[in-house]
Amino acid sequence: MCGIVGIVGRQAVAPMIVEALKRLEYRGYDSAGIATIEHGHLDRRRAEGKLVNLEDRLRSRPLIGHTGIGHTRWATHGVPNESNAHPHFSDDRVAVVHNGIIENFRELRDELIADGFHFASQTDTEVIAHLVARGLRDGLAPKEAARAAISRLRGAFALAILFKDEENLLVGARNGPPLAIGHGDGENYLGSDAIALAPFTNTITYLEDGDWCALSHDGIDIYDVDGRPVERAMQKFIGSSLLVDKGNHRHFMLKEIYEQPEVISHTLANYVDFVAERALAREALPFDFAGLERIAISACGTAYLAGLVAKYWFERYARLPVDIDIASEFRYREMPMPKNGLALFISQSGETADTLASLRYCRAEGQHIGAVVNVRGSTIAREADIVFPTLAGPEIGVASTKAFTCQLSVLAALAVAAGRARGELSAEAEAGLVRALGEAPRFANQALKLEGQIEKIAHDLSKVRHVLYLGRDTSYPLAMEGALKLKEISYIHAEGYAAGELKHGPIALIDEDMPVVVVAPHDHIYEKTVSNMQEVAARGGRIILITDERGAAECSVNPEHLLVLPDMPEIIAPIVYALPVQLIAYHTAVIMGTDVDQPRNLAKSVTVE
Ligand code: F6R
Repeated sequence: MCGIVGIVGRQAVAPMIVEALKRLEYRGYDSAGIATIEHGHLDRRRAEGKLVNLEDRLRSRPLIGHTGIGHTRWATHGVPNESNAHPHFSDDRVAVVHNGIIENFRELRDELIADGFHFASQTDTEVIAHLVARGLRDGLAPKEAARAAISRLRGAFALAILFKDEENLLVGARNGPPLAIGHGDGENYLGSDAIALAPFTNTITYLEDGDWCALSHDGIDIYDVDGRPVERAMQKFIGSSLLVDKGNHRHFMLKEIYEQPEVISHTLANYVDFVAERALAREALPFDFAGLERIAISACGTAYLAGLVAKYWFERYARLPVDIDIASEFRYREMPMPKNGLALFISQSGETADTLASLRYCRAEGQHIGAVVNVRGSTIAREADIVFPTLAGPEIGVASTKAFTCQLSVLAALAVAAGRARGELSAEAEAGLVRALGEAPRFANQALKLEGQIEKIAHDLSKVRHVLYLGRDTSYPLAMEGALKLKEISYIHAEGYAAGELKHGPIALIDEDMPVVVVAPHDHIYEKTVSNMQEVAARGGRIILITDERGAAECSVNPEHLLVLPDMPEIIAPIVYALPVQLIAYHTAVIMGTDVDQPRNLAKSVTVE
């Protein structure tokens, strides 16, 4: 979850490291730090809180070294204060930055303390610095000391290591979280992802699990887990795909909400042939939908909710049963899997540890592995048999928005393709659904026009402590998504419920202080949802209804707020209704004055369990 950077450069690298860390701050922002080698000694600046605090510190006391490492932290071991901030030093000879968790750090710490090492932090990372320093004390050369230390570590890590006497050496290692090498001209780079390195290079090599590397000005040596030199492929990234800029928007989240009509359209165009009116006509799939008994989907958070919408679609349009799980549950559930089954994983980052572990479980169970992923080159993308990329572009706001609607777009196309392949959809029915999907960007654009009204609703919501979200069918995951968004960025407690489940418990919460957001397009189940709204209204609950023109005309309850979208085909409603749901959370958070793009305790890429 933390972000790491390293540069073997030819000029003062601290400003470059800051620039790269800015692009990684989405991964964690509890503290930040940089170390460089200056005239044969290691120096560092660290600061609690966001990167701006570190920048202030560097302004008054710059670092001048040409080789350095940097870190932005999402605390796992030890509170987010300055002494726990990376880089961590040992013997003033070794500096380390680390992303991940060292599972055997207690045992290593006891061993190192017994060996006379003094610990200055509560972190697991510090053991790495001391292990390397012990290797140097024992007479190992720097690379050997690093390798020996890495071989003692259990758990998940991406590392960058500096040695005070080696200005032309930077060691990196990866076991779990990603680590990219950037190829420069007379300088080389390490970073948690390609976006971090985009200001310096668009030529990237990803380390594989177990790899470690030694970078110098002119050379990059990569070794596998057994210490054998290996070649890993170079990839070129298109510069513009890595641009990260808020534009005129106040927050990345708002910018990303507004990008949705365009990125949904871009993503759909990749999967749907609007001329032939067919879904996935061009894709050669390594499995046959017609032969599948069921699909297993695993994901976390918002991506899981996209999967839950897809369950309705696959079952409705393709009569293909779906088992959907939260990945952190699935990975330990020991689910028996059908022979030659299909397992689908959904992830914006492509690095979520629980989703990746579920993928590996399914791989071991002999499943075909499909991945709906936003970050190209991510671990999940690389380990899948087939990748269905979402073309959302970099998503920087911690709360997922455009990645969600792009995931839905891909999954809708897959469900329609499955329906055709299984003979459940006629060519005509498929063409109708494809035409409907083509309308999604236009309706998404219209949904954005509700923003003014939504700001008024947000004013009301910012005054309450609890909010209930209700929906049925594909609007049920949307209700959960609305509640998740509101919780994570405004810190107001919210729950998403299946509207029909209300009477089995949560209805006890309803009184005149409880706002209830109802997501209810006029679909095949609309009347049932209206009955559930009646139950809320009868108990004085304050209803905020998101519906369409028909829904508004046929609604027999009087909502406190009414958001009316145009009538639209049922299949695209979850994609389009996501936008008002996101805007409600966004504006409530803005009024509450929270840190919208980087809410407390969260990180964009969850590479720990
Ligand atoms: C919520 C949110 C998270 C992520 C979840 C999975 O707004 O962003 O719930 O959806 O952490 O992340 P990915 O999609 O990267 O696997």
